[in-house]
Amino acid sequence: MKNKILSLLLLSTVFVFGQKYEGLALTPPMGWNSWNHFGCNVDEALIRETADAMVSSGMKAAGYIYVNIDDCWHGNRDSLGFIHPDPERFPSGMKALADYVHSLGLKLGIYSDAGWKTCAGHPGSRGYEYQDAQTYAEWGIDYLKYDWCNTEGLNTRGAYLTMRDALYAAGRPIVFSICEWGSSNPWKWAGDIGHLWRTTGDIAPIFDGAEHHDTWASWGVLQILNMRKDIRQYAGPDHWNDPDMMEVGNGMTDSEDRAHFSLWCMMAAPLIAGNDLRTMGEKTRNILTNKEVIAVDQDSLGIHGFKCLEINDLDVYAKPLKDGDLAVCFFNPDLETLNLQFDWEKHPIKDDRFHFHYFFDQTEYKIRDLWAKQDIGTTRRVLKRKIPSHDVVMLRLSE
Ligand code: GLA
Repeated sequence: MKNKILSLLLLSTVFVFGQKYEGLALTPPMGWNSWNHFGCNVDEALIRETADAMVSSGMKAAGYIYVNIDDCWHGNRDSLGFIHPDPERFPSGMKALADYVHSLGLKLGIYSDAGWKTCAGHPGSRGYEYQDAQTYAEWGIDYLKYDWCNTEGLNTRGAYLTMRDALYAAGRPIVFSICEWGSSNPWKWAGDIGHLWRTTGDIAPIFDGAEHHDTWASWGVLQILNMRKDIRQYAGPDHWNDPDMMEVGNGMTDSEDRAHFSLWCMMAAPLIAGNDLRTMGEKTRNILTNKEVIAVDQDSLGIHGFKCLEINDLDVYAKPLKDGDLAVCFFNPDLETLNLQFDWEKHPIKDDRFHFHYFFDQTEYKIRDLWAKQDIGTTRRVLKRKIPSHDVVMLRLSE
């Protein structure tokens, strides 16, 4: 009897309070999002063509699966409160679009906002959370990015909890991407609410600097990289720190794109491309689809890497990987080319937070250069390289 009451109680907790759909993002989500390149210029042709390009470019084969529509897909709510897509931009409707994207073996993502309006002024989900979640589920949506504009007076955790429970009640597994720009330290409270949370304000397609708008700024890669210290312990399988969607292919130099991509992988960041996949050139494609670099991001341990050293003005990042491997990324944040001379035996790498230690005077590791795609010897030899401005050397070490 006691047991029955207990299990009934447990069941009712599940039904009443809802929960996060577990296990949807055991490695950082990979895909594409419309915002960084297209802003509000979204329509169904763009989404279909992007899905096609994701397959034909090799992005899908490299692991990218989410095709995410950001702000501005919205039309109006009908008299019963149901949201509809803009009938001119999405004349075939979202269900047909989701069916098409699914037919390619990909998944479809959508965007809403916890407030009354989205950041671009379209209808937000405030007061319509359960209805919207149900609508997304009926359309066949697989991923929801949930923004934080126009939320005056709302409690952040409470608002995201409501949408989490609404998604759960809708009964379709939907990745829940929290986007409140790190304002209320979501890494501290969102582990059982979302699968990823933005850690900063918006990224801009610049490497070092900021773009100032009326009341806010968007940030360069370097600024985003350095904005949040000490949050790596909060990331892991199914709950990731999200330093924002990528700007690879949106106008930075090849070195900068390579560094941006490498550093995102070192941080176990979600890899959401933000460029035009239909027209991207060979160099961009080669960066975004480098499988050995992606494997660092997607490593099953899910450890967010860290800056372990500064040496000759270079920043050295390390990320423990499965099977005792280690990723090491030498990054040149300077405007000049820098000389790297790295004597492994003098520089053990210690990740005290996750208890991984690499003593190169005791253990010899083989080294794979992940951009040159070459084996380059072992940690017995001093590593000598010239690293151009805003570029990296990224390595995988294994015993
Ligand atoms: C916010 C988000 C961006 C994007 C826009 C859309 O600024 O942080 O990533 O979704 O809104 O309006």
